[in-house]
Amino acid sequence: MRILFIGDILGHPGRRIVKEALPLLREELQPDLVLANAENAAAGFGITPSLVEELLDLDIAVLTSGNHIWDKKEVYPYFRDQVNGRLLRPANYAPDTPGRGLFIGKTAAGVGYAVMNLQGRIFMPPLDCPFRKADEVLRSIPEEVKIRIVDMHAEATSEKQALGWYLDGRVTAVLGTHTHVPTADETVLPQGTAYLTDLGMTGPYESIIGMERQSVIQKFLDQLPARFEVAKGDVRLSAALLEADPQSGRALSIQRILRK
Ligand SMILES: [Fe+2]
Repeated sequence: MRILFIGDILGHPGRRIVKEALPLLREELQPDLVLANAENAAAGFGITPSLVEELLDLDIAVLTSGNHIWDKKEVYPYFRDQVNGRLLRPANYAPDTPGRGLFIGKTAAGVGYAVMNLQGRIFMPPLDCPFRKADEVLRSIPEEVKIRIVDMHAEATSEKQALGWYLDGRVTAVLGTHTHVPTADETVLPQGTAYLTDLGMTGPYESIIGMERQSVIQKFLDQLPARFEVAKGDVRLSAALLEADPQSGRALSIQRILRK
């Protein structure tokens, strides 16, 4: 089976290119399952319930997130009320935090799959240990669900690589998000886990990680509070396409996807 995972969808430019390019990508790549990280779909910070619905309407099965998931206050009650559970927050927040970090579902063809969202702790808030949380979450997934995709939302390459090796052979893929810069290290690890340090951003690349450059540079110069706006130029969709064996859950290949 083929799984397309779209990297951090950022603001209106990111949503627009997903809307335009996804139908073509579906035709070309024939994915059985489409997933996306959408923590910054709302003007570059957070996501609102209506944007969740907008992205799910594009037949994206599950939306993962990260540290920015709490930026829009509407998301708190949404997590409490959402019936379908298709918006995830990292699993390693405190247990009583709204929302969940795991989704278990079936593709249109009836293949069971699980999506787990984790967040790193290097240069990020000190959440529960993502490694031990991954062990705990994996124990809760029924044995027959072989396709297991992990979004590791983290800053440090070392932490992402460590998680990839830690979970090798136990999940189908460990894919990194958060830095908004795609890395060129896609590989299938020896025990059959596909790995990529960062999927990259789906948004404007003529920017500093998606934001208008001038205000970001100014902030580095004066360290004063600043308002960041989503940039506009060089909008790209950044993703990875996985091929996996639904019987074993092993990844067979991973390929970076870029569309302008
Ligand atoms: Fe993030």
